Amino acid sequence: MSSTSLGPRRKPSRKGSMADVPKDMLQEIKKLEDMFTVDTAKLKAICDHFIKELAKGLTVEGGSIPMNPTWCMGFPTGNETGTFLALDMGGTNLRVCEINLPEEKGEFDIIQSKYRMPEELKTGNADELWAYIADCLQQFIEYHHEGEKLDKLPLGFTFSYPATQEYIDHGILQRWTKGFDIDGVEGKDVVPPFEEALEERGVPIKLTALINDTTGTLIASSYTDQEMKIGCIFGTGCNAAYMETCGNIPKLAHMNIPADQEIAINCEWGAFDNEHKILPRTPYDVIIDKDSPRPGQQAFEKMIAGLYLGELFRLVLVDLHEQKHVKFFEGQDIASLRKPYSLDASFLSDIENDPYENLQETHDVFASKMNIKCSKPELELIRRLAELIGTRSARLSACGVAAICKKMNYKTCHVGADGSVFNKYPHFKARGAQALKELLDWETGRDGKPLGRGHDPVEILPAEDGSGVGAALIAALTLKRVQEGNVMGIRDPEGMLKGTAAAKSGNKQVAPETKK
Ligand code: BGC
Repeated sequence: MSSTSLGPRRKPSRKGSMADVPKDMLQEIKKLEDMFTVDTAKLKAICDHFIKELAKGLTVEGGSIPMNPTWCMGFPTGNETGTFLALDMGGTNLRVCEINLPEEKGEFDIIQSKYRMPEELKTGNADELWAYIADCLQQFIEYHHEGEKLDKLPLGFTFSYPATQEYIDHGILQRWTKGFDIDGVEGKDVVPPFEEALEERGVPIKLTALINDTTGTLIASSYTDQEMKIGCIFGTGCNAAYMETCGNIPKLAHMNIPADQEIAINCEWGAFDNEHKILPRTPYDVIIDKDSPRPGQQAFEKMIAGLYLGELFRLVLVDLHEQKHVKFFEGQDIASLRKPYSLDASFLSDIENDPYENLQETHDVFASKMNIKCSKPELELIRRLAELIGTRSARLSACGVAAICKKMNYKTCHVGADGSVFNKYPHFKARGAQALKELLDWETGRDGKPLGRGHDPVEILPAEDGSGVGAALIAALTLKRVQEGNVMGIRDPEGMLKGTAAAKSGNKQVAPETKK
């Protein structure tokens, strides 16, 4: 047990290694297991409720999941061409890309620059935000196109927050999520102030499409894989987008759009169960919500997404220490553990990844980072807690994926996923796949083959770059619609072409056919 040699690659759960954990600590572990475990029956109940809520969000009355129509009207063909800019306003960085979609089907070239999002900006004011973003775009153009006389470049802007879009070049921020709290943006269209800041600086850019990261992920992934039906982000926040038909969207009925017209829906499923009817919330989830900038919002996201996993873990450890009968970190000064949001999801990843059977790395990081000396039983509890939080996140995430598949009657499909939790959190993929199996009652894989990688009927796979290539593709699809006179859901079709290369006669900014 106390050997420090590297063990074999560990299975997703190592329940068996608790032999020398004292009884009272085992009891605490059991309590945590009861609190954080979501069994098959509960998964199914959540999924059933989820399906109803997805449909409700599409009605005129609406529900807690916004189900935002995005005015991205169908999948790409792979034949889109042209040069586009993409701007991604993510949580930590601002990324600007220039993407060239060449004649070769499904190909792309990309150059990009990253700019750090200053922490103060996230709680600053609107003018500072737009000025900072416009400055970054200006720098990008000056750096990559020094001295060139440019046509206006069409831009896809990935703005990954819930926005009501009456048009693709419009978006009223419903509310900030992921800890952002910038004054003067909520309830307003974000496009005009963004464009004004560009104009003030004379930056040759025209916003063509405002998109969500999930829609970008869906479109980018389907560009190279036609089985992709859902785009997901499991990162700082969590959410999904899929392609719906207008006939299934009662809240668009007044627009008389043909029933079979496709339109991507940004679910904003982070808001699932804001009314707390079905999710098994723990007292720690309640604290996270209460102390967040937007209590009552994003109930599902707060149990799943990367921003909250480390905080959940921290809250449990502090609580165990406070309960005097538990004797957890007994007699130690845990001041550094008391700082909210001081542990991020990568801290949990590292614990789950600790290669040593005696959890030496976990022991050392608690000592160096927080000056806390953990006993062996404490380490076992810590490791089990990380596993429980990570597993709950993956299993609840699968409920959303299964709900969309069931709603759309997708028996088989690929789901494109991106985000730090999906890409970096240990076992997230395997745990999600296991939950899908339970939710969708699979006995065998595709074509009667055994279940497993490559054969599961629904597979969640790493996505193409949604906020780069996806944003460019959606800009391309939008410009193509303008050129064809199909201007449904486009506010300023004329302005969109003015001054761009696409406006010049004979210039083929995008390829002829759009239907998949
Ligand atoms: C936002 C979504 C976004 C997701 C992933 C959520 O907090 O509301 O718009 O897609 O995070 O980035």
